Amino acid sequence: MSRIAYLNGAFVPLAEARIPVMDRGFLFGDGIYEITAVLAGRLLDNAPHLARLARSLGEIGIANPHTDADWTRLQTELVRRNGLHDGLVYIEVTRGVFERDFLCPTDLPQTVVMFTQEKELRDPPAARTGVAVVTVPDLRWQRRDIKSVSLLAQVLAKQAARAAGVAEAWMVEDGYVTEGASSSAFIIAPDRRIVTRPLSTAVLPGITRNAVLKLAERHGLRLEQRLFTLAEAQGAAEAFLTSASSLVMPVVAIDGRPVGGGHPGPLTTDLRKLYLKLAEAS
Ligand code: PDD
Repeated sequence: MSRIAYLNGAFVPLAEARIPVMDRGFLFGDGIYEITAVLAGRLLDNAPHLARLARSLGEIGIANPHTDADWTRLQTELVRRNGLHDGLVYIEVTRGVFERDFLCPTDLPQTVVMFTQEKELRDPPAARTGVAVVTVPDLRWQRRDIKSVSLLAQVLAKQAARAAGVAEAWMVEDGYVTEGASSSAFIIAPDRRIVTRPLSTAVLPGITRNAVLKLAERHGLRLEQRLFTLAEAQGAAEAFLTSASSLVMPVVAIDGRPVGGGHPGPLTTDLRKLYLKLAEAS
């Protein structure tokens, strides 16, 4: 069965969803995206994803084409039409279509695209074994809090990860880990404190990150939002990453150095279980 996409007001077969060459998303990376996980056909933690979408659009001066209620209705309908059980819903909004010029009218109709992707989120093999990461320099711009579709630095980081035979790259700036190419980075210090970088323009405010921090706090775990170095990460008791597409994923090696004996750590394993339990209950 062909996947169904949403394009500018209509649900169409994905193969028939076409965007003009003059779309600013294509020419300039001038757009915003958002990804919400779907578990058992239900959108996971969607409200903060829509809030981040609204904020990202606002930060680059694109009017949000839909209310949160409309977005939710469109996402839900797309999930239904695709019969999606577990996976992701992708949203992209670009500034629209105009003759190639850095500037364009401020009132262009936005391009709105949505599609779904099936993905094993609940029990992927990687969650049992953990994943290895390599580090790369963080080559991105200075507004990483905006979920922009300009993802060249992340594509290069992922290529470096693939070349090293691993799943993810952690980006490093001034000796400190910023985040993963498409995930938030966490370590668990030898004293069991959960450490992640504080929010700023240097990282994306991960929705899963926030949910996991709240969950950890509710379970009486100690948290510390501060910068951490690559050396500290390699010497950590445990490490993990979070994202809508991985949920909570153990990290078991960094640049070829095993973390926590090279196996998913107990706290990370608990956090993943707790997160899935919360997701099921929501
Ligand atoms: N990436 N940091 C970066 C740079 C990301 O691209 C992502 C998500 C995250 C995690 O955010 P969240 O928990 O809200 O998914 C952190 C998505 C999944 C992607 O681009 O595929």
